[in-house]
Amino acid sequence: MDTRKLGQALNKVNITAFRFFEQVGSTNDLALDWLASGAPEYALVIADAQNAGRGRQGRHWVTTPGASIALSLILYPSQAEQEKLGLFPLASGLAVARAIEEIGVDQVQVKWPNDVLIKRMKTAGVLVESVWEGDRLHGMVIGIGINVQRKSVPAAVGLLYPATCIEDHTTVNVDVITLITGTISNLVHVRTGLLNSKFHENYTSKLAFLKEKVAIRDQVSQSSIGTLEGIDPAGQLLQRLDDGRLQTFAAGDVSLRPI
Ligand code: BTN
Repeated sequence: MDTRKLGQALNKVNITAFRFFEQVGSTNDLALDWLASGAPEYALVIADAQNAGRGRQGRHWVTTPGASIALSLILYPSQAEQEKLGLFPLASGLAVARAIEEIGVDQVQVKWPNDVLIKRMKTAGVLVESVWEGDRLHGMVIGIGINVQRKSVPAAVGLLYPATCIEDHTTVNVDVITLITGTISNLVHVRTGLLNSKFHENYTSKLAFLKEKVAIRDQVSQSSIGTLEGIDPAGQLLQRLDDGRLQTFAAGDVSLRPI
């Protein structure tokens, strides 16, 4: 990546400081360390490759050199935002989806809670990690991984969900710096409306599998099968069971599959 060009582009969005690495373990780990030593809000860690990238539910996240985006953004949610912390992974996914649309890709959706799909295949994931001091939130790291080129797509064997990359859905050359700044500026914008009903509307309009039958599974219990109805004001998923009851799921360790 051309870091001079990256620095110039980041100056035009809200980034206050950034650190770029050719290779790291996990950008989230570096951002968490930076947060602990007093990073400013909107400090950003970017890496060209990760060898210990982390996904949700303890999964490994592959970041192929030169073919993917791996970034971690540091935020300090306000007191009011802290009442709705569950919206941050959703807002981050929405921001990535919009950035991908802005470069001309169609059929981009968000898969609750934190994935971004193109034509119902996963192209990006979000891992939000919060740092607490007792019961007070100190700060948050939003980790985002985006598959850009074909070699970033993991082999289908063993994947829980089909994967894709942006380049398979556009004829134009994908500029990663545009995607990075697009993601950040969209996130800043989405954040300004996070606490009003517009966010709910915007997120739901991009929500994959809405009104479709989905299976939702947590770590311990069996799958719950029902119709995906949307999200509640806290960002929890709503599922209508066949007997008419409405179930609510917090993101946590829950996974969702269409059936
Ligand atoms: C998921 O889909 O499970 C979330 C994947 C999040 C991956 C990103 S890549 C940048 C940041 N650093 C990490 O180690 N993970 C996140």
